[in-house]
Amino acid sequence: MDRGTLTTEFIRSLQDAVPADVVLTDQETLAKYGHDETEDLHFPPQVVVRPRTTGEVAAVVKLCARHGVPVTPIGARTGLSGGALSVKGGVGLALDRMNTIVDIDELNLQVTVEPGVITQVLQEAVAAKGLYYPPDPGSRGSCTIGGNLAENAGGPRAVKYGVTRDFVLNLEVVLPDGEVVWTGANTLKNATGYDLTRLIVGSEGTLGIITRAVLRLVPLPKETRLMLVPFRDERKACEAVAAVFRAGITPSALEFMERDAIDWTLRYVQGVSVSIADDTKAHLLVEVDGNHADVLMRDCETILGVMEQHDCQEVLFAETAAEKEGLWKLRRRVGEAVKSNSVYKEEDTVVPRHALPDLLAKVKEVGARYGFKSVCYGHAGDGNLHVNIIKGDLADTVWQHDLPKAIREIFTYTVSLGGTLSGEHGIGLVQRPYMDIAFNPVQLDLMRRIKNSFDPQGIMNPGKVLP
Ligand code: LAC
Ligand code: ZN
Repeated sequence: MDRGTLTTEFIRSLQDAVPADVVLTDQETLAKYGHDETEDLHFPPQVVVRPRTTGEVAAVVKLCARHGVPVTPIGARTGLSGGALSVKGGVGLALDRMNTIVDIDELNLQVTVEPGVITQVLQEAVAAKGLYYPPDPGSRGSCTIGGNLAENAGGPRAVKYGVTRDFVLNLEVVLPDGEVVWTGANTLKNATGYDLTRLIVGSEGTLGIITRAVLRLVPLPKETRLMLVPFRDERKACEAVAAVFRAGITPSALEFMERDAIDWTLRYVQGVSVSIADDTKAHLLVEVDGNHADVLMRDCETILGVMEQHDCQEVLFAETAAEKEGLWKLRRRVGEAVKSNSVYKEEDTVVPRHALPDLLAKVKEVGARYGFKSVCYGHAGDGNLHVNIIKGDLADTVWQHDLPKAIREIFTYTVSLGGTLSGEHGIGLVQRPYMDIAFNPVQLDLMRRIKNSFDPQGIMNPGKVLP
């Protein structure tokens, strides 16, 4: 399916099917919905539709199915694998106007939302009722639940609470033929038939469009403690991660930042100052949460013991809410800081937690051999390392021809450690060429058959996930 031209007849039928003001064809809108946060990629749709209801989404998809027009669901465009890019043109179906929190069910600890609700808005709305929705990607202030569901987003709190998928009970989905279905039940347990809910989450908009979600909540922890732990040796920092769990603690976040990650971010963000010793090579940011200050204090003492056994330097405890916010700002804005510095490519490798030191060493070894610098950081407690490969002054030819080989080496090693290509950013467009490293032909064929049974015409977010 190539980027054909949409006929005026098709645009007119769209305007008849949904309110005309939600169908947009001006260049500014097409350009805006044609990029996300992935590198500097631009793939504008040929028409943007911004529906307000499930009925409108279904009407648009039915028309696309009838005319064989590609349709790409678009959330807040904060994605890092190009999942929302309209690579085949067609209809960009933007879900940002479907942004209602439909119901917070305080008796069952559930919330029903539309896909365009901003993640942080949802978190704050449920927190006001003493409830907690833990998945919190770096972009939580601007990303939306629909995108989080599509990519199975994670974030720092996943290490204790789980990723987006672990909080989904039931989804309303518009299928590629325009039919509307619910995938499950609003229950915590469900042993009834195939688990369509878990299949849809993380399918990156290739199987259908999520128009409503019932999510699970937990009680909001009353207290947190946060510490920033510097190390002279990155390997020791990585090794301390697995040791924390072995010591009986499940932190609510356990993040890794190598020296450059924190240095670059300190230069990039306003109003946060942390003094760092010249010989510090890496930091861990460790958070615990709970309801009892004395328990958290004992947990912190245990963690401190583990850190000391791994030769940490002087630990910084965040004493006030403002200090906590400052440290989190440093961590959450690493990606932006790197992006502001140079053209870069981001990999989202993930391995079993204890293999993290080997993965980090391999990334640096491959970088030295191919001549690129990398800035590594991420969710160490999950074994999830974000590898930002910096273009700097590398020649365009090296960047285009040699880098894919280097990435292939990193991914091959990652998989050999029992890991995989993406922990939380998805495959989308940019990691598609590497899927053969994670899956053999039998597995890929099974996935293609699943895709075909949902979407025999191949109109739903074409050009993504499967090679
Ligand atoms: C983060 C995003 C990039 O961890 O996943 O900051
Ligand atoms: Zn992340």
